[in-house]
Amino acid sequence: MSPFRITRILPEDATDAALRADVLAGLTGSPRTLPPKWFYDARGSELFEEITALPEYYPTRAEREILAARSGEIAAASGARTLVELGSGSSEKTRYLLDALTGLGAYVPVDVSESALEGAGRAIATERPGLEVHALIADFTAALELPDTPGPRLLAFLGGTVGNLLPAERSAFLTSVRAALAPGDTLLLGTDLVKDEAVLVRAYDDAAGVTAAFDKNVLAVINRELDADFDLAAFDHVARWDPDREWIEMRLRSRTAQTVKVQSLDLAVDFAAGEELRTEVSAKFREPGVRAELAAAGLDLVHWWTDPQGRFALSLSTVR
Ligand code: SAH
Ligand code: AVI
Repeated sequence: MSPFRITRILPEDATDAALRADVLAGLTGSPRTLPPKWFYDARGSELFEEITALPEYYPTRAEREILAARSGEIAAASGARTLVELGSGSSEKTRYLLDALTGLGAYVPVDVSESALEGAGRAIATERPGLEVHALIADFTAALELPDTPGPRLLAFLGGTVGNLLPAERSAFLTSVRAALAPGDTLLLGTDLVKDEAVLVRAYDDAAGVTAAFDKNVLAVINRELDADFDLAAFDHVARWDPDREWIEMRLRSRTAQTVKVQSLDLAVDFAAGEELRTEVSAKFREPGVRAELAAAGLDLVHWWTDPQGRFALSLSTVR
């Protein structure tokens, strides 16, 4: 077994303070919103893994097809000795990169979900003797503090998770990624692509109701962590395509007029019947937009690969 280390960059109380601040701002604002990073406690991470296997949820399969076909090219173009992965989750598709990167000495998965890092990080360290696995429990929207491992680095951000950031957050995030990279390092970015509305809506509102359970899990997190009394059955899951912003919005719609109490914040929130709480945006992209957003952050897109059906793209960028 290889060395496995897990470091908490975010102290527990910082996570607690951030959740309190996000819930207070999000539930008292108009419209009501919550940031998607709070979906991912151990149950939320499990539900996300179930989503990836649903027939309607094509992004994981499409990205896996690209990685299966292109990991050799990605490895040759990056020449990486360290692979850093943001929002690594189960690290399941990462195995294509780990297999292809023959000179790799270190893997640094970064996630807010400790349970996901423990499971995936330990498994990879066990499977790959000689590979140092240094997991970081950290928020990738904060300044990235990476361990001192050998370059060049390949920073991978898979799954289309970049689309869960709002445009201003995305631009700040790409700038901070650029700042964390040195000349010779590369960024591998997964982006889901604009497509037929019905396909998109089905992917976020599956017949088995797994995405609905994932969406409502954020309420269970707030109930547990902030002593709130959300009744999960009193909200309906909604997925809607916004054609102007080209993003899917997930929302929770209050079935009735109700008051929810959040004891730790000494807060009572009145929901009108039919009122919606936005829990996630999932932006879909086109190549010129991705190229322009990367360029604005000082990153040059040098490769663009899609799956044969053109549903999802992986791009490789260098540091300008
Ligand atoms: N990369 C995997 C998992 C995607 S799910 C895949 O492609 O299948 C999104 C992952 O990002 C989850 O594991 C979640 O815990 C993590 N995540 C979400 N917001 C985060 C944040 N702000 N900082 C760090 N990790 C985050
Ligand atoms: C993690 N992220 C890219 C997923 C997405 O597709 O936006 C999260 C998700 N939300 C609902 N289903 C999956």
